[in-house]
Amino acid sequence: MGAGLIGREHAALLRANPRVELVGIADVSEAAQAVADEFGVRFFTDMREMLDQMRPDGAIIALPNALHVEAALACVERMVPCLVEKPIADSLDAAMRLVAAVEEAGVPVLIGHQRRYSPDIAKARQVVRDGTLGRLVAINAMWMTDKPAAYFDAAWRRLPGGGPLLINLIHDIDCLRFICGDIDEVMAFTSNAVRSFEVEDTASVSVRFTGGALGTLLMSDAAVSPFNWDTAAGQALYFPHQPENSYHLAGTKAALSVPCMDLWRHETEAGHWQHPLVRQHITLDGSRAYENQLNHFVDVIEGKAKPLISARDGAMTLATVLAIARAGREGRTVAVSEMLT
Ligand SMILES: NC(=O)c1ccc[n+]([C@@H]2O[C@H](COP(=O)([O-])OP(=O)(O)OC[C@H]3O[C@@H](n4cnc5c(N)ncnc54)[C@H](O)[C@@H]3O)[C@@H](O)[C@H]2O)c1
Repeated sequence: MGAGLIGREHAALLRANPRVELVGIADVSEAAQAVADEFGVRFFTDMREMLDQMRPDGAIIALPNALHVEAALACVERMVPCLVEKPIADSLDAAMRLVAAVEEAGVPVLIGHQRRYSPDIAKARQVVRDGTLGRLVAINAMWMTDKPAAYFDAAWRRLPGGGPLLINLIHDIDCLRFICGDIDEVMAFTSNAVRSFEVEDTASVSVRFTGGALGTLLMSDAAVSPFNWDTAAGQALYFPHQPENSYHLAGTKAALSVPCMDLWRHETEAGHWQHPLVRQHITLDGSRAYENQLNHFVDVIEGKAKPLISARDGAMTLATVLAIARAGREGRTVAVSEMLT
């Protein structure tokens, strides 16, 4: 559902995966007919009609943010498991409506935070969880890049409900929640000084994790930089690979940079700032995030796995991002729990 920028990529991933067969594409734009023709599948302008006629085993929802819940509910009503692109919704009310429907119906719904399937993110979570870093103390994350003007031809991307907090930083927030645990409180400055859209183009954010660690995030879609996970990790589908780090995690025993995956620690337990650090490179399995996500979705459809990112989990990531947006708007510290009441 939705054969736009990422929908076409999903179609290509489906075509390449021997475990699945792409059977239909729904999109209101007539231009998407050409995409359906290219993939040799049926085309629908009404997504419900597609679900009713094709009765698929699963659906991928790659529509503008504001339509995610409506489309996911159409799947849940028909007991069709779905992979919903992030964010789960453009508002928490809508997200919680979906969470309630999913939990009541018992239909698996997976939220498309594909970075969790990337080997660097999975490894970082393991390194934090197994205590290699000691007690987690401080985390820094960056997502800065320069989007071209044409990207904003699609109006939803420059209006409330779109914008880089909900489109991009949400991935970093989801990664940090996955690696470091939940976030309790946030503070933020947001700015639209470069593009003058209704939505922000830049943000600086401070967060407090439930586990006690503190974090900072810097985000901009109007600044030239290699400091963003998409180009740094080489896992994105349509960006060049520019090896760099986008996250730095520091604990009482060691530090880890991601995605270059360097682990820094002292040679002995007694080491401190006057002693040199030893750098150990952690090798990864080389698997690909989007492919892994699709295989996981197929496992979910086949009943072999539970969604790695449930609707409720996706709603918590959204609540955290909406807390950041509110903190920027209101110039104050916002507890994520405020968003849930
Ligand atoms: N996980 C990722 O890496 C990733 C990357 C890009 C986008 N996304 C997410 O995917 C979603 C789509 O983003 P995009 O950049 O591909 O957007 P897009 O605007 O390029 O594509 C959206 C498509 O939905 C179609 N559409 C709109 N209303 C419709 C309706 N009622 N019924 C059927 N089709 C309809 C549009 O015609 C368009 O083809 C967004 O939620 C975005 O946040 C995720």
